[in-house]
Amino acid sequence: MTTKRLPQSELKRRRRLLMDMMGDNAIAIVPSANELIRNRDVHYPFRQDSDFMYLTDFPEPEAVAVLIPGREQGEFIMFCRERDVEKEIWNGWRVGQEGAVSDYGADDAFPIEDIDEILPGLLEQQKRVYYTMGRYTAFDGRLLDWVNQLRANSRIGRSAPHQFIDLEFLVHDMRLFKSRSEVALMRRAAEVSIRAHTRAMRVCRPGMTEYQIEAEILHTFRQADTEPAYPSIVGGGINSCILHYTDNCCELRDGDLLLIDAGAEYSGYASDVTRTFPVNGRFSGPQRAIYEVVLAAQEAAIENALPGRHWNEPHEAAVKVLTEGLRDIGLLNGDAAQLIEDEDYKKFFMHKTGHWLGLDVHDVGDYKVDEDWRILEPGMVLTVEPGLYMPPHSNDLDERWRHIGVRIEDDVLITREGNEVLSDGLPKKVDDIEALMADG
Ligand code: GLY
Ligand code: MN
Ligand code: MN
Repeated sequence: MTTKRLPQSELKRRRRLLMDMMGDNAIAIVPSANELIRNRDVHYPFRQDSDFMYLTDFPEPEAVAVLIPGREQGEFIMFCRERDVEKEIWNGWRVGQEGAVSDYGADDAFPIEDIDEILPGLLEQQKRVYYTMGRYTAFDGRLLDWVNQLRANSRIGRSAPHQFIDLEFLVHDMRLFKSRSEVALMRRAAEVSIRAHTRAMRVCRPGMTEYQIEAEILHTFRQADTEPAYPSIVGGGINSCILHYTDNCCELRDGDLLLIDAGAEYSGYASDVTRTFPVNGRFSGPQRAIYEVVLAAQEAAIENALPGRHWNEPHEAAVKVLTEGLRDIGLLNGDAAQLIEDEDYKKFFMHKTGHWLGLDVHDVGDYKVDEDWRILEPGMVLTVEPGLYMPPHSNDLDERWRHIGVRIEDDVLITREGNEVLSDGLPKKVDDIEALMADG
């Protein structure tokens, strides 16, 4: 079983790397996510800020990590909630300052209530502040207040930092390259998603509902100590043509397709997997025709997700196969190259073929460097997810194509030799899906 927490040595290595890039006379300030209210005094399940998690693994809200490279009394300082018997009885255990030092590698830790007193002093000695402006606007204001305090006291010899640099710029590039331990967590997240989708295929019958299938998926996720990386999309029939459908409220009808886009998140790391299959276990002719085009496009895209290729090559490969396929079955007419140039395929395929995957489902990292597409390198993880969706509002579409939406999505790790499909093992060939569903 994969250990859920990353080793502290890896967290330490990340902070070291960041601090080396920051250089001396610099300070990084990284706030945790805030708890969000769902209604009155009920919160949404807490999800840590991904950058904060990446640098600390610290699980609580109301925390701020501060990194000061080269500071003799300690380079990593954590502000966090104090242990509190009453609060712990109501809301659960807290790490506290001792725990921040012993379990999370902080050199020193202070109560979050003391930050107004302590942080200006830490800022005063630095020239450059690394901080992500605009993500937590209330915190932006506090940081400006601390800096203004220093500016106001310049006559008595206090000096404020004078350079403000986007922290994301450094951290997001680090996050783009996954280490061996991160890949182990992502592999596990993908394995759980495979189990969930397999279960959905096995249990699906006409007359069931989208939410019942969603329940099977959630059951598998929670049994395996994972949670949904994003709200599951479970769309039958016409709902399979809606890209971000999450109502999941309808009955599944005999003869319709079911599109499921559901991924488990393990220890903060996402998987993102889509399969499309017939509710009754047998593809109809038109469903099969569309499905085979998408599958061929997905395979072509995966074959182009290789080290040394650029970001857009898998997409270009998918678009070519999709366009030719649409033309072959008569949904587009004309010369394939011209259809691609005119982007006629966008009527049926309106999104890109993938995105980076990691702590965020749509993970961070630039897709272009300057003007050029990024070159794929070992350690990057991306999704490959072409689809074809018959326009749900279109009345001029031949009856047989209506209500067909197909997406096939896998998670692909770029390796030195080529790639590894982390979600491999989940059936996607027509015969394999039909065989699995016939087995029940
Ligand atoms: N599940 C969202 C996506 O596929 O990008
Ligand atoms: Mn997806
Ligand atoms: Mn995706």
